[in-house]
Amino acid sequence: MNPPLRALLSDPMTWLLTGGAGYIGAHVIRALQDSGRDVVVLDDLSTGIASRVPQGVPLVVGSLSDRALVEQALREYAVTGVVHLAAKKAVGESVERPLWYYRENVDGILSLLEAMQTTGVTNIVYSSSAAVYGQPATSPVAESDPTVPLSPYGETKLIGEWAVRDVAHVSELSWVSLRYFNVAGTASVDLADTSVANLIPIVLRSLSDERPATVFGDDYPTPDGTCLRDYIHAADLATAHAAAADVTEAGGAAEVVNIGTGQGSSVIEVLQSVGRAVGGDVPYEIVERRAGDPAELVAAADRAGSVLGWNAVKSLDDMTASAARAAGLA
Ligand code: UFG
Repeated sequence: MNPPLRALLSDPMTWLLTGGAGYIGAHVIRALQDSGRDVVVLDDLSTGIASRVPQGVPLVVGSLSDRALVEQALREYAVTGVVHLAAKKAVGESVERPLWYYRENVDGILSLLEAMQTTGVTNIVYSSSAAVYGQPATSPVAESDPTVPLSPYGETKLIGEWAVRDVAHVSELSWVSLRYFNVAGTASVDLADTSVANLIPIVLRSLSDERPATVFGDDYPTPDGTCLRDYIHAADLATAHAAAADVTEAGGAAEVVNIGTGQGSSVIEVLQSVGRAVGGDVPYEIVERRAGDPAELVAAADRAGSVLGWNAVKSLDDMTASAARAAGLA
């Protein structure tokens, strides 16, 4: 049954979103609500922003390591499924502080799975990353390709996938792990990514500061020499979670799914798209390669279609235009 119809006929399912006050979480809340579900957010607000959680959505402030708190939230709100987004996600930082990443990301998923087991919650959508592939030998990269992460961040995400899968082997857990590619753009100004950690926000910041953008290397084996990535709009990513929730609720799901568009864009193409968004050229300079960057990381996106019945609908220009508007540059 389609979710809005189900919501009319019976009590809506309630899903807990860990990390729901973050940039991606805020988009996922809306997509789950649009699918007819009730939502509860658990967030420690270390990087999340409480105002991203809409009125009427309970916000439990606390850490996943507080098992009693997590179990209480699962019981109090009669939670039937969890989208697990809460995690540290900066690749470079993870190289510098590996123990912190293992503590936060691995302890986080283990603690959550234990709390779910104790309270009998059997549906999970786990947020993983294309970082689990490292430097793939082939492109586009498929879910069945080898996972060789190049950073503690990617390693912790992969360990989380394994933990979910292994628990499901001995329980009723129904699960989908989503490997996000490069998330960008915003559904509305108030949900925008406020960190300046990824290419599009960094380029927008350089424009605001009237500095040239920095391109990390133009001697890669790609058509224009700059790295290719698969940029996916946060609003599209969000609807993939609702589709994944449907699949887990149907029971017995055990799926790893790439969430991308299947289209690669080079750094130069991103700068050109930002230029169209702001109505002018984006000045840039080429500098040395950044250590650890794969030349090409593009999703094989067909499993998302066949398993989730989902595909991305927004373009790179949608991403840059919405991000530029949120930054006050368009
Ligand atoms: N880049 C530049 N200049 C910059 C910033 C980035 O040229 O100032 C380039 C990078 O070298 C890379 C591309 O832009 O080729 C995208 O870089 P990001 O730092 O935005 O993203 P990454 O591809 O390195 O990583 C992102 C997320 C990870 C996630 C990965 C999955 O940050 O968490 O996508 O594909 F794992």
